[in-house]
Amino acid sequence: MTDLRTTYLGLALENPLMPSASPLSRDLGSLKQMEDAGAGAVVMYSLFEEEIDLESQLLDAYLTQGTDSFAEALSYFPEAGAYRTGPDAYLEAIRQAKQSIGIPVIASLNGVSSGGWTRYANLIQQAGADALELNLYYLPTDPTMTGCEIDLMYVDLVRQVADQIEIPLAVKLSPFFSAIPHTVATLAGAGAQAAVLFNRFYQPDLDLDSLEVVPRLTLSHRSELLLPLRWIAILYGRVELDLALTSGVHTAEDALKGLAAGAQVVMLASELLQRGIGRLTEIRHEMSAWLEEHEYDSVDQLRGSLSQRNTAEPAAFERANYMRVLGSYSPAHR
Ligand SMILES: Cc1cc2nc3c(=O)[nH]c(=O)nc-3n(C[C@H](O)[C@H](O)[C@H](O)COP(=O)(O)O)c2cc1C
Repeated sequence: MTDLRTTYLGLALENPLMPSASPLSRDLGSLKQMEDAGAGAVVMYSLFEEEIDLESQLLDAYLTQGTDSFAEALSYFPEAGAYRTGPDAYLEAIRQAKQSIGIPVIASLNGVSSGGWTRYANLIQQAGADALELNLYYLPTDPTMTGCEIDLMYVDLVRQVADQIEIPLAVKLSPFFSAIPHTVATLAGAGAQAAVLFNRFYQPDLDLDSLEVVPRLTLSHRSELLLPLRWIAILYGRVELDLALTSGVHTAEDALKGLAAGAQVVMLASELLQRGIGRLTEIRHEMSAWLEEHEYDSVDQLRGSLSQRNTAEPAAFERANYMRVLGSYSPAHR
């Protein structure tokens, strides 16, 4: 039997497959199912900066200005009640998850600005989370804001959060940086022990009939794997933190590719939402069978074997390959 055991963020996992943050972790029954299906660890759904800020604004309005202001404050956040559950419920969800399952529970905070909301990192630690994932989801729309300013904003935030906790910290990033290796290395220096690559941005669509902008949440496709795969292969061995792959993992082959690129763990959301938590078991079995068939003693042996550092063709990850790929197109591709 190939040894699937893996460490991630200093935690010992039975295998490198992890459900990433999604609504599946909102339900204790699903959390247990994920553990039973063989998840190595689980990332909880995110608590958002906006939810924390909303709660303090509401409390403030209630205490200082009476119930009218309370209602007014609430009306600014029409979706908050329906979509989210609030900070206290989140801490309770972490406590209950820890009581119910034995695999590591990684909490998730989603925010961008440094401020009072980051104290929740410490409350999450007190609630018993084994680690914290900080999802940095910022969309710069101001043309006067530079990429450097955004990097600095992230570094400040990671430092601020890392200072409040002793549990390990992972940072989940989007792919939209001009220098991904530098950004990741800087965040490692600021206290991140893992980079989770990459966040998916949910793109709004335009409805030409109603002339409205419509939010659209689509689940991922396998082709989305190639973006994190490339960057994990490039970063492996170059940055001093663990690399976790998220986006586009739907099969055992996808997961194995992630590990070969250099991922410490591979995460799944869309596949489990679409086809059920039982897919974790199937993917783990297929991964094991492949590793045994190819005579790997452990996942560690596979990890990074196709990273840029270790592959026989490092240029395949770089610009050098660009002209060759474009030149390889033939009308038969249509
Ligand atoms: C319905 C849904 C809800 C999600 N909620 C969160 C969340 O609360 N926090 C977060 O960091 N990522 C969230 N994600 C992103 C996933 O964790 C994951 O990174 C992304 O879907 C890409 O992985 P996949 O291709 O396996 O779906 C969500 C994704 C989906 C589809």
